[in-house]
Amino acid sequence: MSFAGEGFAPRRIILDERKLSTEYVPVKLQHRESQIEDSLRILKPVIKGEKYVVLSVIYDGPAGTGKTAVARKIGSFLASEARERKRIPPLVVSYVNAQEQRTRYQVLRKIGSDAGLTIPRRGFSADELASYIFDFLARNDYNLLVILDEADVLAREEDGNAILYTLLRLPELHGTRIGIGLVVIFRRFDESSLYIEDAVRSSLASTRLKFDPYTAAQLRDILWNRVLADKAIRETAVSDDVVDMIASAVGYDPSTGRGYGDARMALKILYFAALKAESEGREGILPADVREVISRGVLPAELDEEVFEKLDLHEKLILLAITRVLLLEPSRAYVSMGDVELEYEDLCGRYDEKPLRHTSVWERVQRLKKIGVIDARVESGETRGRTTQISFVGITRIPLNYLEGLLTKLIEREISSGRR
Ligand SMILES: Nc1ncnc2c1ncn2[C@@H]1O[C@H](COP(=O)(O)OP(=O)(O)OP(=O)(O)O)[C@@H](O)[C@H]1O
Ligand SMILES: [Mg+2]
Repeated sequence: MSFAGEGFAPRRIILDERKLSTEYVPVKLQHRESQIEDSLRILKPVIKGEKYVVLSVIYDGPAGTGKTAVARKIGSFLASEARERKRIPPLVVSYVNAQEQRTRYQVLRKIGSDAGLTIPRRGFSADELASYIFDFLARNDYNLLVILDEADVLAREEDGNAILYTLLRLPELHGTRIGIGLVVIFRRFDESSLYIEDAVRSSLASTRLKFDPYTAAQLRDILWNRVLADKAIRETAVSDDVVDMIASAVGYDPSTGRGYGDARMALKILYFAALKAESEGREGILPADVREVISRGVLPAELDEEVFEKLDLHEKLILLAITRVLLLEPSRAYVSMGDVELEYEDLCGRYDEKPLRHTSVWERVQRLKKIGVIDARVESGETRGRTTQISFVGITRIPLNYLEGLLTKLIEREISSGRR
């Protein structure tokens, strides 16, 4: 994607896109010192190599309060200390995300592969796999630290209790010579813990560390750190005004209970404001950029509402169908055209429109791809000697909820005006 006109490239404001992505762990995690210290203190025996012990700590706090970042920071710090054989004995650190690893088998497989084992997709039972991994770790004198992220999902999943049970109780029951540390991350522990069985909950009844929403002052530090310490954005492109505006728009106010206090949201606004400034060939971010990004619900500047208004009715319906299928499958970046077409036909039925045929739908998908609204890719496979093409579509840069609302509004407006 290019932000500048042809043949003209102004200095970029964004120095490293990666450092603004959610997976990136920043250099500094200001305002989370106590959570980091407490975690290390609680897990210390496991980190120091003590065996026959399971210790856990629960992180509890709303979206964007640094839970994943803190856990990953601790994990990567300990993993590198152990790898370089500095101060701490052998330790395997495994990051498990319950949105991605949904069954006990998948969780164990992830832990196994983080321990360097190659584990087939099937062939073992989950219990066999657990013993295999724990025995391997014990034989090699490893302890294990598992970060179990998005555990609200896990608690509600069929296998959830079994997963927790396996990690909390199994080594003890088998008398395996291993120490296990667990960081279990929740957005709403009070609600989610109701789904956890008593036997498991009592083993998990460990320390709960609260992650409160960030205040405006804290967000200001976090945003400036991303500029100055991580060098994600050119320092001269950012001003106090810009940072203050974002921080106060997102910051949590304990006295009124208002504000999201979500660092992810604050960073995203900064990112989109920087993109907007770049797209207009400017060297710095202006408060007007921030205002516009905030008022548009964090929508990238290149994709203005006008772009969507100009789509024809069936392009809008197809795009809405894609959006809805993606919303139903939050863990997936791409969904199949087959699913999208079914949803599209449903939508047509609802609005009393005759659906287009397959090839016409596909042409419109290509057009949406060309204008940069969606991402589409085709994979060819072979069935019985014939080439088949399976297509997938995704939307990467636009918040889906926003898009769903906007398209529904535009479609309804178009249909009602056409029929009047
Ligand atoms: N104290 C901090 N210092 C610097 N960056 C932070 C801090 N806290 C959070 N962030 C950044 O904010 C974003 C969101 O943080 P994180 O992913 O850790 O949130 P979370 O609490 O796990 O939220 P969720 O419940 O939605 O998963 C990340 O990009 C992270 O790097
Ligand atoms: Mg998280």
